[in-house]
Amino acid sequence: MSELILKAEQLEKVYKIGGRRVLALSGLNLQVERGEFISVMGPSGSGKTTLLNILGCLDKPTRGKVILDGVDVTNLPEKSLYEIRRYKIGFVFQTFNLLPYLTAIENVELPMEGTGKSKDERRKRAHELLKMVGLSGREEHMPHQLSAGEQQRVAIARALANNPAIILADEPTGNLDSKNSYQIVRLLGKLNIDQGTTIIMATHDRRMASLTDKILFLRDGRLLKKVKKGTHLAEKLKK
Ligand SMILES: Nc1ncnc2c1ncn2[C@@H]1O[C@H](COP(=O)(O)OP(=O)(O)OP(=O)(O)O)[C@@H](O)[C@H]1O
Ligand SMILES: [Mg+2]
Repeated sequence: MSELILKAEQLEKVYKIGGRRVLALSGLNLQVERGEFISVMGPSGSGKTTLLNILGCLDKPTRGKVILDGVDVTNLPEKSLYEIRRYKIGFVFQTFNLLPYLTAIENVELPMEGTGKSKDERRKRAHELLKMVGLSGREEHMPHQLSAGEQQRVAIARALANNPAIILADEPTGNLDSKNSYQIVRLLGKLNIDQGTTIIMATHDRRMASLTDKILFLRDGRLLKKVKKGTHLAEKLKK
């Protein structure tokens, strides 16, 4: 049975900078079912990052509503949004955003701090996550001692730390070559299949988008009606 995990209604986002207004999202409606792997494409400036930031409760819309897992998060206070971001959402960014002075395993442990897990439990889970993303043996490496693809895999392990229902990935392959890009999207696809994690990925790369369930096209802050069905990795991974 399909179940909506995320619903956006009439989203509008206006940025105001020095008296100038930029309309970044304009009456955008979106429904995401639990377990979907969706990509969002669109030209630079079309609103992809703005959309992901709002869906991920990092930013608020100027109008409209976001309903996440049945909860209207639009007007929740920052303290509640912090909890939602921490437990329900995993973020993956183009530039990895690892803390440079922490080892790979410490980066993965970080989101678990203050969640009631003991130090040993946090370490054990971080070990498992690094193993899951294929990085056993790299636990003590600093980010600069890892390749770009490896750094992104650490970032994915970190995003999974608190077992989120949704992963929001903003151009996760934007800084990677095509081989590493494929590996990262394949890893996301595997998480989607094995753990049922819902994933929304913004990308400029049509080949990567075509590996997901569905491709949404954004233009000028609106979703174009055109929704292309991708070939989900599930079929490839089964082989
Ligand atoms: N913090 C901000 N303040 C003012 N304007 C912003 C801000 N962030 C984004 N914008 C504007 O909002 C519009 C949408 O930007 P956004 O970053 O969401 O686009 P994008 O689709 O992610 O682009 P790209 O593919 O280059 O990452 C752009 O016109 C941008 O200039
Ligand atoms: Mg962007």
